Amino acid sequence: MTDFSQFAEPHSEEDRLVRGIDLARLPRHIAVIMDGNGRWARERSLPRVAGHRSGINAVRETVEMCARLGVEVLTLYAFSQENWKRPRAEVTTLMSLLREYVRKELGTLLENNIRFRVIGHLGDLPEAAQRELGRAMKQTADKDGLQFNIALSYGGRTEIVDACRALLAEGADPDRLTTELFAEKLYTAGQPDPDLLIRTSGELRVSNFLLWQIAYAEIWVTDTLWPDFRRRHLFQAILDYQSRERRYGGLNRGEQQDPVVVRN
Ligand code: FPP
Repeated sequence: MTDFSQFAEPHSEEDRLVRGIDLARLPRHIAVIMDGNGRWARERSLPRVAGHRSGINAVRETVEMCARLGVEVLTLYAFSQENWKRPRAEVTTLMSLLREYVRKELGTLLENNIRFRVIGHLGDLPEAAQRELGRAMKQTADKDGLQFNIALSYGGRTEIVDACRALLAEGADPDRLTTELFAEKLYTAGQPDPDLLIRTSGELRVSNFLLWQIAYAEIWVTDTLWPDFRRRHLFQAILDYQSRERRYGGLNRGEQQDPVVVRN
């Protein structure tokens, strides 16, 4: 029997929500565009970086809940290739927050059997951050619980171009290329595609995130700003996902046959 107390305080709103989730039909891969840190800070007359710092609490709770629920893969979009254009002080603080997060959380990741990976151009990051992230990847490499990806210096179009480069470099035969073989060259090779894409702060964009992999993802957008995102939002997103009928370009159940037309 499932011990629901690992997910939420008994009789709380979160407990009610999580009990509605069918744990046998979880999205295998959840991807999240964490947006709204700046707005969260502005609403409180704080510097933007205060929003990023507060966003770490949402990261922690989301990772922990996905691991406990038994989600296979969680991918968080933390820093895009375009984000390098932000003011230098904001970028520097984000990089040190990342290091701090990994340093503080490594023990918890290991305890929870979480395998940590960076997707994106890790080599663009400052060396100190690369070292810290590399250490976490190495130490968690043999874990077989949640696969936790952080997208850093990531761009979806660049990922596709990188895959093309890899194929060209190995002299792949164009006539034998399939979508499955192509996907093996993506940063997420071997992982299921996202079933559920969550975006916070109400924006209706995909922002160059996992462009290939989200082809059939169900999208769930909340007005909640990322620093305020908590388990109840994750549970709501999963419940909403489970209420949808995924068609992959096919038909709904019950629509498989044309209606019989009776002519007189
Ligand atoms: C978008 O908000 C958020 C980011 C660019 C950074 C996300 C980073 C974190 C949550 C902290 C570190 C991450 C990890 C994984 C430890 P925004 O600044 O674009 O917000 P706005 O649209 O309201 O300005």
